[in-house]
Amino acid sequence: MTTTAPAVPLAAPFAAYRGLQDAVLDGRIDGVRRRMGSRLVILGHHYQQDGVIAHADIQGDSYQLSRSAAERADCEAIAFCGVHFMAETADILVNRPDRVAARGGRRVAVVLPDMAAGCSMADMAAIEQVEDAWTDLGTVIDTSDITPVTYINSAASLKAFCGRHGGIVCTSSNARAVLEWAFARTKRVLFFPDQHLGRNTARAMSIPLDEMSLWNPYVPTLGGNSRGQLEKSRVILWQGHCSVHAMFKPEHVDAIRAAIPGVKILVHPECTMEVVDKADLTGSTSYILKQVADAPSGTQWAIGTELHLVKRLEQNHPEQTIRFLSPVVCMCATMYRIDLAHLCWSLEHLERGKPVNVIRVDDETAAWAVTSLERMLAVK
Ligand code: 13P
Ligand code: SF4
Repeated sequence: MTTTAPAVPLAAPFAAYRGLQDAVLDGRIDGVRRRMGSRLVILGHHYQQDGVIAHADIQGDSYQLSRSAAERADCEAIAFCGVHFMAETADILVNRPDRVAARGGRRVAVVLPDMAAGCSMADMAAIEQVEDAWTDLGTVIDTSDITPVTYINSAASLKAFCGRHGGIVCTSSNARAVLEWAFARTKRVLFFPDQHLGRNTARAMSIPLDEMSLWNPYVPTLGGNSRGQLEKSRVILWQGHCSVHAMFKPEHVDAIRAAIPGVKILVHPECTMEVVDKADLTGSTSYILKQVADAPSGTQWAIGTELHLVKRLEQNHPEQTIRFLSPVVCMCATMYRIDLAHLCWSLEHLERGKPVNVIRVDDETAAWAVTSLERMLAVK
């Protein structure tokens, strides 16, 4: 039975949660979930640690979690066990003006259990830098013939920039379809912040490397490019990357292939082109999970993406042999900041109507960002 009565004393500062045992935190989180019922939705990204993901109502990749938020009409609150840009995206989509109006003006509170859960890649492109790059590009090429495409791993302000300039958002699971959408409209694409997803996707579409340029936002003159290079570029890649996926190296692929004949190498497209070129398969986190689940038992895998996902795959698929591609630990330290203590703290505050760590994108930014997000959601 659903009841609103809190099971624990009045909400306390976070410090009071630090040091509580996992079993205690699990019980308290379960209590909030039971009492709030369908009023609360917990979304969890595949990279979350096991203890946290066990409490998620929906687990998914960035695309699936955005879609879940976009479709959520009924709940009062979303606790996002992911990173900051994911919670921002959920806020933008769940609180579209038409949805808020349909709820009689009530917003869904979107909370990020730990505000320090950011994404270092998203931080590599600031809106001022992108605006400057756009202006500079306009001195060489006609910007009306460029579609700006932002990877979802970016601040809401960049999504709004894309909304304002006829652009679009992509995730790692739809990057190719989004680039096809863009090239049906314009000759060129400015892709930020992840150079690797952009390059790997463009190469898979047979765009040659000499028709791509790399824009370094810290080089004052044309991002470090010549006019000629930009003029012949179809894809202008922002010089950003994921520090987790950058740790997978081509020599790791060589070493695993030499050690395990017949091993299948499966990597995320945030890995460098040199790694992707040597891999057998490349795709989003959901794609990676599906390949392993669908493979005949006894398949040998080496996987290049975040450690928690790979460890969980190993546990969930004892019929397969699964190895981590790198000899060193590659984990998303910011995602890992979401732990049981922060989840419990944020949920107990939510239940009391005193939410902490609410992610609220301002209306002007949200209005333009939703334009580029909806373009993405409409791409098949
Ligand atoms: P997915 O789009 O596969 O969920 O990846 C998100 C991400 O941040 C990978 O680093
Ligand atoms: Fe960002 Fe990389 Fe972490 Fe993904 S794995 S959230 S891109 S830092």
